[in-house]
Formats: sequence, structure tokens, C-alpha cells
Amino acid sequence: MSVAESEHEVQMSIDVTAAATAASPKVRATIREGALRIDAVSYSYDSGHQPGVAAVDDVDFVVPRGALGVLVGPSGCGKSTLLRLAAGLMEPTLGRIAFGTITPAELRKQRRIGFAFQDPGLLSWRSVRRNVELPFDLAKLPIDRSWIGELLEIVGLSEWADRRPRELSGGMRQRVSLARALATRPDLLLLDEPFGALDEITRSELNLELLRILSATGTTCLLVTHSVEEAVLLGDRIVVLSSRPCTVKLVHDVPEARDARGASRDTVAFLDHCRALRAALAA
Ligand SMILES: Nc1ncnc2c1ncn2[C@@H]1O[C@H](COP(=O)(O)OP(=O)(O)OP(=O)(O)O)[C@@H](O)[C@H]1O
Ligand SMILES: [Mg+2]
Repeated sequence: MSVAESEHEVQMSIDVTAAATAASPKVRATIREGALRIDAVSYSYDSGHQPGVAAVDDVDFVVPRGALGVLVGPSGCGKSTLLRLAAGLMEPTLGRIAFGTITPAELRKQRRIGFAFQDPGLLSWRSVRRNVELPFDLAKLPIDRSWIGELLEIVGLSEWADRRPRELSGGMRQRVSLARALATRPDLLLLDEPFGALDEITRSELNLELLRILSATGTTCLLVTHSVEEAVLLGDRIVVLSSRPCTVKLVHDVPEARDARGASRDTVAFLDHCRALRAALAA
């Protein structure tokens, strides 16, 4: 793949911050008012001569503005497909998705979506720091170096900032991808199993950092995880999906305050949330 092709591909996956774009304050205010609405969405992959693959079937849920929504469901059920639809990378076969009053495709054009794919997709010829800075370069915007430095610190990679991706472990690459998704302070953050390759302690630390960043910025987020505990720790609203084509089995809200959740994994309330999710997954 050529440099231009790769950078184009990454550009498809990364959209940049409201703060750094030229959109008017009015447009920004409109977007900030928005919840992410998935409205009766179905999606089938059409593969030409082969029969199409139905991945999403009449899925309906809302992630309120500034909230963190979590998708859990069996492998292959359609979670990544839903995230790609929410990112405006594909259009639903049926139904619609909106962020506030606009479509994900429009939000992408406004460069307000941050996306970390299941596969980190780093550019091998760029250092860690330059990978995190990439969204600014693609949008031809000045790099917010102090924020990039802070993000590298948060994901524990300051000392690795000048290394290339091939020198990193899988979990470290995931952390670069997370930092890159956050680099330009997007209005909508879409994270596909962002902590899957991390050890438990690093994972817990990053969970809490993510909550801190989201609370500080008011960013709306939709995240995929296979961990029920992580879903309860992070999610304000958890959507349990069936096997493919995924339908919504349960929408479960976690009302406890985010900043109280880190210490609360042994509480009755935490365990009750986990039990409810496990029961729905098994049903
Ligand atoms: N580009 C594609 N073309 C055809 N089918 C696809 C494509 N991408 C995904 N699928 C199919 O859609 C279904 C849902 O895939 P998806 O990647 O959304 O699942 P997932 O829930 O994210 O799984 P996992 O938990 O393993 O990541 C699968 O059956 C998969 O084979
Ligand atoms: Mg997936």
C-alpha cells in the first residue's frame, strides 16, 4: 500500500476536533445538543454473487449527550458493524442514525468523530508521537503539542514517543490508537474493544482515565467490549446484543456516578449490574 493510500485509509477512520475545525460556534452548539440515536437500523453486507450477510437487525437505542454507551454481545454478532455505521463509514440498509440533528456522514465531514478500530492500524513509518499527531496533519491543522504530550502520558507511552509501532507490544499499539482517537477532542468517540489486549491493571487505569477525559470534555462515546465488568465500570448505558444478525436484547442503565465506580466493584449494586448483563447475554 502506498503512503498516500494508507494515509487516505487512516483519514477515513479519524476525524478531528471541533475545537480545531473551522465550523461556526452555532454548528458546534447544535452538535453538542445531540444524543447519538440509532433508529430501527438494519444492515446487510452485500457481497456480489454470494448471498448477503445480515449483520444488524432493527436495532434501536439512544446514547444521551455526553454519555458513554457500551455494546456487548457475542463475537461476530455485528458490534463493529454498528460502530462503522455510527461513524458514517457505511449507510444503514434500513433505518437511520443521527447525532443531534445531523447524520454521522455530516459529522465526519465536520471532522468531529474519533474512531479507534479493533485493529489499531498505525502507520509503520511514523513514530508513536507522529501517529497520535496524524489527525492534525490530515486536517492541515496546527498540532496541539501540549495535549498530545498529556495524552502520551495518560496512555503511559511518553518514553516510547519516538519509537516506531513495530517496536511496541499489541497492548501498546492499542494505547497509541486510543490516544490518536482522542487527539483532536472529538464530539463523538467510537472505540472498538480499545482495551482488549491490556493487562488488568493497565486496563483499569485506562478505564478510569477515559472516564475522566469524557467527563471533562462532555464527549459522547460508544464503546465495544467483551468484558461485562468493564461494561458496568464504564457504561452509563449498556446495550446487550443477540447473536448475528444482532438485535437489542436489553438496554441497561448504570445510574451510579462515574467517579464512584472505580472503587465500587465489590458492591452489591455493581454485582447486580453484572448479573443482569450476564443473564441477558445467556438468554
Ligand atoms: N466487510 C464485510 N463483508 C462481509 N461480511 C462482513 C464484513 N464485515 C463483517 N462481516 C460479517 O458481519 C458479521 C458481523 O461482523 P462484526 O465485525 O460486526 O462482528 P463483531 O460483533 O464486531 O465481532 P467480534 O466481537 O468478533 O469483533 C460477521 O458475520 C462478519 O462475518
Ligand atoms: Mg468487532
